[in-house]
Amino acid sequence: MSFGLSFWVSLIGVAALVLIAYLGAEANLSYLFGVIIPYAAFAIFIGGIIYRVLKWAARPVPFRIPTTAGQEKSFPWIKQNKIDNPSTALGAFVRMVFEVLLFRSLFRNTRSELTGGPKLSYASAKWLWMAGLAFHWTFLIILVRHLRLFLEPVPSSIKIVESLDSFFQVGVPLLYLTDVIFLLAVTYLLLRRIFIPILRYISLPADYFPLFLIIGIGATGVLTRYFFKVNVVGVKELTMGLVTLSPKIPEGIGVLFYIHLFLVSMLFAYFPFSKLMHMAGVFLSPTRNLANTNRMEMHVNPWNYPVKVHTYEEYEDEFREFMKDAGIPVEKE
Ligand code: HEM
Repeated sequence: MSFGLSFWVSLIGVAALVLIAYLGAEANLSYLFGVIIPYAAFAIFIGGIIYRVLKWAARPVPFRIPTTAGQEKSFPWIKQNKIDNPSTALGAFVRMVFEVLLFRSLFRNTRSELTGGPKLSYASAKWLWMAGLAFHWTFLIILVRHLRLFLEPVPSSIKIVESLDSFFQVGVPLLYLTDVIFLLAVTYLLLRRIFIPILRYISLPADYFPLFLIIGIGATGVLTRYFFKVNVVGVKELTMGLVTLSPKIPEGIGVLFYIHLFLVSMLFAYFPFSKLMHMAGVFLSPTRNLANTNRMEMHVNPWNYPVKVHTYEEYEDEFREFMKDAGIPVEKE
């Protein structure tokens, strides 16, 4: 089976990033990789997200185009589906909460297949939903746990998350359940792209690259914690230096940490320009955030009559002399 060019380009891209970080750390460029690149990446991340959100927000939405996935509000004796076809702002908000926290539309999603015959059949796609949900939630929990590196004293809420996450008390250091689920879920998301022919056909570097990058971040994080321990006290000094804007590089943190941090920096810098922007975009999506009041209310397109136009008469008044100079015929002398 051939994996395809997109697969290899992305894999080699991420491998090159790992190599760059390795060589950088070995060449004693710790300040570049520990301070300058992370700061620059964070600035691009924040600036890029603001830029893209403002650009989306500036787009006019002259029509109500919510996706309707259930009975709309109608006669009192017809039962409305208030979540899948909301008619109020509150309903749209509830639908959004279900979408963002539980990926409801993905849960309801079906995939279509041509089976022998040929016969079109529909099947549920619950594995994708489960892996997607597991991936995003564990990612979030891991990020929340990482706040222990950036806050001093570490808030008790983070310690509670840590102790719940390592509830089974396996190994030293204690194994986090989220680490296992995260890596399994993201591996599933990659394998489905590789082994389902239709998906492999439509997959681009923009699909593989973030997956490899995230797998790289997870793998280096796990190696850092469980296998090749780094100087965590040194890491905390570095991260506290970053947040207090008085960066310094403690000695002997370990190359693996710099690789982890560099991959994270690349993810942050890449984020605003990638499909990962669905994180912000989902909130701005007019197919999700509008109530379906299409028939209940009169909607007037703001571009409708009367529209400010520039008539030919006005145009000629403005340019008559120039037109005459250039020998162009005019209607009024
Ligand atoms: C997209 C962001 C990030 C992801 C997905 C991520 C992922 C992970 C994972 C899965 C681990 C394994 C252990 C654990 O779950 O705590 C880990 C460990 C670690 N990460 Fe990250 N990480 C991210 C950002 C960062 C940043 C910004 C830093 C520091 C500047 C960092 C520093 C570390 C360190 C020091 C460890 C080892 C922790 C220990 O030994 O307990 N990570 N990371």
